[in-house]
Amino acid sequence: MQHKSDVIVIGAGAAGMMAAIRAGKRGRSVVVIDHAKAPGEKIRISGGGRCNFTNIHAEPKNFLSANPHFCKSALARFTPADFIAMVDRHGIAWHEKALGQLFCDDSAKDIIRMLLDEMRAVGAGLHLGTEISGVDRREAGFRVSTGEGVFEASSLIVATGGKSIPKMGATGFAYRLAEQFGLAVLETRPGLVPLTLDPGLLETVAPLAGISAPAEIRHGKTAFREALLFTHRGLSGPAILQISSYWREGDEIVVAVEPDVEISAHLKTAKQLNGRQSAQTALGDILPKRLAQFLVERERIAGNMADLPDKALQRLAASAQNWIVKPSGSEGYRTAEVTLGGIDTAALDSRSMETKTVPGLYFVGECVDVTGWLGGYNFQWAWASGFAAGEYA
Ligand code: FDA
Repeated sequence: MQHKSDVIVIGAGAAGMMAAIRAGKRGRSVVVIDHAKAPGEKIRISGGGRCNFTNIHAEPKNFLSANPHFCKSALARFTPADFIAMVDRHGIAWHEKALGQLFCDDSAKDIIRMLLDEMRAVGAGLHLGTEISGVDRREAGFRVSTGEGVFEASSLIVATGGKSIPKMGATGFAYRLAEQFGLAVLETRPGLVPLTLDPGLLETVAPLAGISAPAEIRHGKTAFREALLFTHRGLSGPAILQISSYWREGDEIVVAVEPDVEISAHLKTAKQLNGRQSAQTALGDILPKRLAQFLVERERIAGNMADLPDKALQRLAASAQNWIVKPSGSEGYRTAEVTLGGIDTAALDSRSMETKTVPGLYFVGECVDVTGWLGGYNFQWAWASGFAAGEYA
């Protein structure tokens, strides 16, 4: 079977659906092809099923890329307010959880329904469960061969995402296609991912698995203040996921729990006020009890506060707020929320996301070397880059 349209979008995820909507609104005939059985699967599982669909503070500084300026144009032309306006038009209730992160009150499925309704309204076709066997360029445009026949269009938007969560159909398709067309692809690696510890260290922190505490995690000049979670494999929680995007194999990170409290001063005051209590009790007033016990035992501190020299208290405070850790690795694409790296932005026009060397070929969303922080930034990039391509394709 032969299908002809103005625009083909490969990938019915966040970026692809937004690109289809925008191109369709301009009067372009659009088909969206996806090998998955359902559209927007990552939207469905995102934000614990409530989809953290944007962040009202989204700015270029919240994104990692070899070219930090590249994302500016698209982000400025489709903003969080633009997406909120769409959500409001569809009557979807939402709330701000923390740090500008917006979630659906009810379900992430509301966002998928909204995007599908918008696609239907502009007449965009959707071909699910469609395997692509090849893409080639003809004089008139692009030919996409699939199990459902051949699709032809003058513009091709590639929105197949990154490598994270292969179980959900992530394929690396966009990178292979970019290489087929001679475009540079920067090294990819898992981002927003828990970090693992070597077996020796893991054994010592094993009793802490399940404990969560506010923390500041530092890597060089970058620091995030959010929750830290000890797990059976190592370290997780939002603060660790955030720093994981900056961390490289072999690097150290610095962990400070309860960063808003000066633990050293707290211990000194506790010693003055009640010298008969133990350091574990004093520390347990501000940290989870199991963590306090762990730190006291690790520093081999025992006895009443009154008998402990200030140096010992400082050592204890440092072990809580200046813990230098060398993670052994990350949990990898199996659990990573995003893929860092990808299609080199130098190959793309930042206004349109069109490739500079292959007219009519666009790349959008996670497959491009633009990766957001945790907290709704990655969807904002997907909406904004998809919208940008839809404006021109
Ligand atoms: P996306 O991966 O969404 O879509 C790609 C589409 O292409 C898929 O439908 C896939 O089936 C299809 N495809 C792939 N290969 C293909 C092929 N060979 N042929 C045909 N089709 C193919 N971000 C955020 O901002 N807020 C949040 O709350 C979360 N939460 C979250 C939770 C979890 C568990 C994960 C894994 C990720 C998040 N994210 C997130 C990140 C967010 O999901 C991600 O950045 C966007 O989904 C990227 O959108 P894209 O459209 O680029 O790719």
